Amino acid sequence: MSNDKPDSATNPAAKLWGGRFSEATDAFVERFTASVTFDQRMALEDIQGSLAHAQMLSEVGVLSGDEYHQIADGLKEIAAEIETGDFPWSVQLEDVHMNIEARLTERIGATGKKLHTGRSRNDQVATDIRLWLRGRIDLIGAELTRLQTGLVDLAEREADTIMPGFTHLQSAQPVTFGHHLLAWNAMLSRDFERLMDCRKRVNRSPLGAAALAGTSYPIDRARTAELLGFDAPTENSLDSVSDRDFAIEFCAFAALLLTHLSRASEELVLWTSSQFDFIDLPDRFCTGSSIMPQKKNPDVPELVRGKTGRVNGHLIALLTLMKSQPLAYNKDNQEDKEPLFDAADTALDCLRAFADMVPALKAKKENMLAAAAKGFSTATDLADYLVRKGIAFRDAHEIVGQSVSFAIEEEKDLAELSLEQLQQFSTDIGEDVFEVLTLEGSVAARNHIGGTAPDQVRSACTRARAQIEERH
Ligand code: ARG
Repeated sequence: MSNDKPDSATNPAAKLWGGRFSEATDAFVERFTASVTFDQRMALEDIQGSLAHAQMLSEVGVLSGDEYHQIADGLKEIAAEIETGDFPWSVQLEDVHMNIEARLTERIGATGKKLHTGRSRNDQVATDIRLWLRGRIDLIGAELTRLQTGLVDLAEREADTIMPGFTHLQSAQPVTFGHHLLAWNAMLSRDFERLMDCRKRVNRSPLGAAALAGTSYPIDRARTAELLGFDAPTENSLDSVSDRDFAIEFCAFAALLLTHLSRASEELVLWTSSQFDFIDLPDRFCTGSSIMPQKKNPDVPELVRGKTGRVNGHLIALLTLMKSQPLAYNKDNQEDKEPLFDAADTALDCLRAFADMVPALKAKKENMLAAAAKGFSTATDLADYLVRKGIAFRDAHEIVGQSVSFAIEEEKDLAELSLEQLQQFSTDIGEDVFEVLTLEGSVAARNHIGGTAPDQVRSACTRARAQIEERH
């Protein structure tokens, strides 16, 4: 960052807007109000927007063909300079927009000063953010799809693997590991839908709204929208330059995505502990302890879980930023970028971590099965069995409760009790009870859409894959 535009410290006219000013900006105020340190991330989108604006101006006759070509060539050279890291960013020029515009005039001379005809930084910045965010949405969507693909493949491989299902983190009923993974996938499918819904509202062109009221030049807003790949121009000029609801929606998407990833992370952390020992997370996703040689810590899921906090914070930051702003543009909105950028970066990084990690998860099937066999997870199956013998569910619940209590005293699982022992609690219990007390019988019996039966898991995988395919 070079801060050395020598004349602007003393000469207000060195600013692009300095004409009406009689003293130079206070040095601290200059830094305080500048955004170039962070909004230079949108430099290429800024140039893309300027190219479309200049082309449209030449098509409607506001710029000559020659002027347009000079501007376009100059902007393309600047883009190259930015990409190689040679662009001389200046805090005195405040933001990405004025840095690039000043550089254009420096390079091509007076014609550069015509680029800003019929627009304002207010519609320019709104355009840049939308273009930038659209690009991120597409990257995030692709990464979400990669994660879901890996998840569905793993779910299919683990369709028959039995594990305990939990409520209140207590063993509840046996489920299949594939079914559990498809629950994660269902959350992510809704996240993808939310992302695509948000994209529709991001993908509108505010260009032409100018400062707030539109412009007196004969601009063609539909043309710039088309050139930039937007679906349509935005409707109202005041709203176009001021609202950042599309960025808030994106952060709401990101907060829910991270909420879902943090839930999955929490389970991975639990399952890799020696107390559960359900899965193996390869060493490349873990780190060790500098003091306890035996440790292998699940850092990647822990960090994803932790990053949920900052994304939730960004959502609240943007909601609070927008609240109570009068129409139209206010400088407050400069504060929209850092939270938005960080929310997008965090979402993308966390998805990448998960998409890399999920295909590498190894289920420890024996441990899962052994855990499911403990904790009376087929107690509901015994109650359902009694109902099929004609007993009311509430009475069946009571009978099974007594059987469980007895089994606890005997230090046995239900399936390990003898027929005689079970019959103490109900004479309706017969030899066939042992079929329903097995874990395999229990999961296979839940054989309907959305149920945990291995066959249902396999057809759910097929449906999930078809849904992912439709995206291409
Ligand atoms: N840096 C500003 C922002 O991020 C650009 C728009 C400035 N517009 C203005 N009228 N000061 O919002």
